[in-house]
Amino acid sequence: MDPHFPLPKSEPSANFLHIIGTSIASSLATILGDEVNQVVYASIEISTEGPYDLELAVPKLGAVLKDMNPSEVAAKVAKEYTPDELIEAVAASGSSLSFNIRSASMMRQALEMIYSTSQTPKRVGIFIGEGRTLVRGGEKLIRIFHGNGRNAGGISPSGNRPIPLPRIFPTKRGYGTNTLGNGKRLVIEFSSPDIAMPFHVGHRRSTVIGAALSNLYAANGWDVTKLNYLGDLGTQCALLAAGFDKHGSKETLEKEDPIMYLYSVYLVIYRDFKAKEGQRRDDTKQMVKDYFKRLEKGDPHLIEMLQRFRELSILEYIKIYERLNVQFDVYDGESLVSAESIKDVMDQLGKQGLLIGVTTEDGRKSKRGKIAALKVEEDENKHKDLLAKDLALAIDLNEFKLGKPVLQNPDGTATPILRDIAAAIDRYHKYHFDKMLYVVGSQQNLHFAQCFKILSLLKDCPFDASEKLKHINFSQVKGMAIPTLWPSANLVFLKDMLDSAKETMSKRIKASPENFETIEDLELTSDQIGMTAVKVQDMQAKRIMSYHLDWERVTPFEGDTGPYLQYTHVRLCSMERMVALEDGLAISSLESIDTSLLLSTPKAREIVFYLATFPDVVRTALKTTNQAIW
Ligand code: ARG
Repeated sequence: MDPHFPLPKSEPSANFLHIIGTSIASSLATILGDEVNQVVYASIEISTEGPYDLELAVPKLGAVLKDMNPSEVAAKVAKEYTPDELIEAVAASGSSLSFNIRSASMMRQALEMIYSTSQTPKRVGIFIGEGRTLVRGGEKLIRIFHGNGRNAGGISPSGNRPIPLPRIFPTKRGYGTNTLGNGKRLVIEFSSPDIAMPFHVGHRRSTVIGAALSNLYAANGWDVTKLNYLGDLGTQCALLAAGFDKHGSKETLEKEDPIMYLYSVYLVIYRDFKAKEGQRRDDTKQMVKDYFKRLEKGDPHLIEMLQRFRELSILEYIKIYERLNVQFDVYDGESLVSAESIKDVMDQLGKQGLLIGVTTEDGRKSKRGKIAALKVEEDENKHKDLLAKDLALAIDLNEFKLGKPVLQNPDGTATPILRDIAAAIDRYHKYHFDKMLYVVGSQQNLHFAQCFKILSLLKDCPFDASEKLKHINFSQVKGMAIPTLWPSANLVFLKDMLDSAKETMSKRIKASPENFETIEDLELTSDQIGMTAVKVQDMQAKRIMSYHLDWERVTPFEGDTGPYLQYTHVRLCSMERMVALEDGLAISSLESIDTSLLLSTPKAREIVFYLATFPDVVRTALKTTNQAIW
């Protein structure tokens, strides 16, 4: 083997294409000279169409070609390349080279690699995922609990005692993963519902995209912290707290679905608050204002109440997230941002002379044209002057076309943007992230652009915001209202949406008697397939395109749908089980399988090629994602 190999970022033990790349590079080095090694390696690509597996555009070899003509180089290589154990054929077409991998080598090596790095537990002779009873010779063998690799399990033939299924964990890393991101940390904030408002469909898209990105970074070796930044402060919560003190019952809260109960309390006070006129409206407005102030000032009664709402809500969220197979590492929230960081940010901006006083209508929106162009300079007193004048404090970002966001209300309370700025700094101190992503709908584009800009203007910000922070925005699903502060008539909650998906799947399954018969737990199966229908649809639609969710399109068992994906998985599991049960062939040792005999058909080769190139797909997916977002 050439001394240059393996290259620093190559992982021949986990990526078959790296074995191939290494081999091609060293053969080309013999023909064209040692210098080509590094370049060749990075230039080999998977062919998009047959009959060859891999391609190399000779001009990409660049300077190492010296004065040679790329077509001549290609022809020379095709002529002089000696087929070996890994490469069986090389052809030149113009300035491009094509390579075919020797099938038997690929089958054996790729399958061995999958087998030895696979994290999915192999259950010999046992089927997982479908949840049905296996019967052989009239004897009930084992009943399988539903679930994925993590929580699937079985019960013994004779009773209900759960038994662990035989599992083999050859290595810790899963097949397809790599170590590129080792030593790097990603903080990813996603989902982030508001506790006063049930989890709605807008949060769903954030949840699905956020979970997918987390998996992608983790598969590429990053240390990923998944963070949920709950909306547990602000006007909505003031409204909720005031409503609860007036109309709520602690007993009911502890007994019923807390989220729906809190929402019903919210709606009652919201009605008064939003009424066109009247004493009740005025009283409610005043009350909510007072609550808002008390809350921001840390009133113990309100803090305790919201703390309870928060806990109960988290318990409900966890159930919904489980339905989507999503887990968080941290339940953070607006209420947990440190007061010191908020103060530090304002002091620093003040010192830098970046704050201006603005008159505001209600302490939140600045009245355009009425900017009091007072600058807070070094002087603390002037800072106080501004507050004394009942002015809100804002920052002028007009030179960046980002308006004049208000950071602090006249009563000294922080606006969401100031809180986000302080939260980012808190998180940096805690996690020392290399990157932080915020997966939040595109209605908040301006909010995040302002937030990141202010962080980058802040002299003592401990990190470079323009390099480390990114807003991953997305558009909403059409026809489903997303509430901001106010509920709306066609508001769709995630729970209802998942229930509809489940319902639709259940009907489809029942409509096909042979499917229906094989399913032991219709509820669970419909729920899991329904959830996949929703997830796959979300992943298929372009992030920044809004789309219309059409159950007729996303729930069939054929086409590019979630149900088809589940169906395929179930079929594969079933084949594995049948082979093991009926033919007595347990997949216990690869050495015993003669891959050249078993996998000689073109389709089988195609599948193995897909499997063999999967680690490369994982790398490329992160690379292209990064190109798109950074
Ligand atoms: N809670 C907000 C909502 O429901 C989303 C929070 C977004 N994240 C943030 N760091 N501002 O719309």
